[in-house]
Order: sequence, then structure tokens, then C-alpha cells
Amino acid sequence: MFFEPGQHKQHGLPHNPFKALVAPRPIAWISSLSAEGIVNVAPYSFYNAVSDQPPIVFFAPNGPNRAEGVKDSQRNAEETGEFVVNVPTWELRERMNETSAPMPPEVSEAEIAGLKLAESRLVKPPRLAESPVSLECRYLQTLEFPAEGTMRGNYVVFGQVVGLHIDEAAVTESGLVDPTRYKPLARLGYMDYAAVKETFSMPRPSGAQQP
Ligand SMILES: Cc1cc2nc3c(=O)[nH]c(=O)nc-3n(C[C@H](O)[C@H](O)[C@H](O)COP(=O)(O)O)c2cc1C
Repeated sequence: MFFEPGQHKQHGLPHNPFKALVAPRPIAWISSLSAEGIVNVAPYSFYNAVSDQPPIVFFAPNGPNRAEGVKDSQRNAEETGEFVVNVPTWELRERMNETSAPMPPEVSEAEIAGLKLAESRLVKPPRLAESPVSLECRYLQTLEFPAEGTMRGNYVVFGQVVGLHIDEAAVTESGLVDPTRYKPLARLGYMDYAAVKETFSMPRPSGAQQP
């Protein structure tokens, strides 16, 4: 099968398969603060790290453009210069999903989903207390990829990680973070997810950088 993305339904499948092909994607469960101090929480699976020295991450809000008002997580990161990436887990899956419902900026998804908040150390937005890993981020910049011929906005918001929280229960006796201890969620296509429940190790060829 081959198709070009702009060609409507050329693939002949009931749904556009693109997101199922770029999968699994990690999920950033972003907590941020509005300029008015309201806590916002939302998941983003167009998310990843682009470097580790220094650690830099991005999330990509798609949908409304600046004329319509960008998504709250993006607006808050840009206006306040800070956000926190929390890792959603198998246990937290339903509450994570609840926080993706469209809500007006004055409503806090954290309250609606009954999420406990904890103070961050270096940034003002709180982290999600039940999340085993949280990355405190300082906003760096936003890139924009306007979708031709539509009013749709596609943005990529970058932040530098300035503080990392790890639940001690996620760390093995030999000091390694073990994802099977907290089962992070990943997004697949459609309405599908994966949770990391099994891993394997494979040392790199000699001469290549080891962890
Ligand atoms: C698992 C999951 C992943 C999502 N990933 C994205 C994403 O990468 N980009 C995006 O624009 N919306 C994504 N969404 C939808 C947003 O969470 C949703 O639009 C939310 O209302 C945005 O909230 P905010 O305006 O408070 O930032 C995702 C939803 C779910 C459930």
C-alpha cells in the first residue's frame, strides 16, 4: 500500500493511519499555570526529547491557531515561561484521559480529574504528585508549521529540563530507573495505547557510547 497524505482517503482505510505508524509515542502529561494562576493539565503525545546535554524536550499542540487562541498548555508555557512534563502510568490512564477533554482556560483539569498536586522545586507550575517522573521545564521557543490552505495551527513548543523528580520506587537496587516498576503509557494510533510492562537490554557494539 502507498498513499500521499494530502490525497483524501487514497489509502482506502476507515481512518488515517499516520499516527498508528509513528508509534509508540511517549506521552507528556503537561502541568502549567495560566497568567491568572489556574493550574492546567493536558496530555500530549507529539512529545519527545531532542537532546540530553542539556536535556531539551518538546510537545506539539495541533489545532487552533493564534487567531483562534492556541491550546492552554502552549499559551501558559509561552506566557509564564515554565511547564512541567509528568509521565502518565497504567494506574493513572483514566485520569490522564479525563484531562484531555476540552475545557475553558478558567477550569482546572487537575480538580476535575481529582489529581493531587505537589510543589515543584524550580518552577511555579505544580507537578502531579502521583506521577513517578516529573520534569520541570523552562520554556525555550515555539516553532510554527502553518497548514497550507487551512486555519489549522501546528506548533512545536520546546523547553529545557531544569529539574527532575523520580519516585524512589522506580529505581532498582543497582540505581537504574526501571519503567516496568511504574508502567509508563505510550500512545499508538486510533484510540489505542501501550504500557511498558516488559523490557530487554542490548549493549551497543564496542566503541559506541554506553549509557
Ligand atoms: C493521549 C493523548 C495524547 C494527545 N496528544 C496531543 C498532541 O500531541 N497534540 C495535541 O494538540 N493534542 C493532543 N491531545 C489532545 C489534547 O490533550 C487536548 O486537545 C487538550 O484539551 C489540550 O488541553 P490544553 O488546551 O489544556 O492544553 C492528546 C490527547 C490524548 C488523550
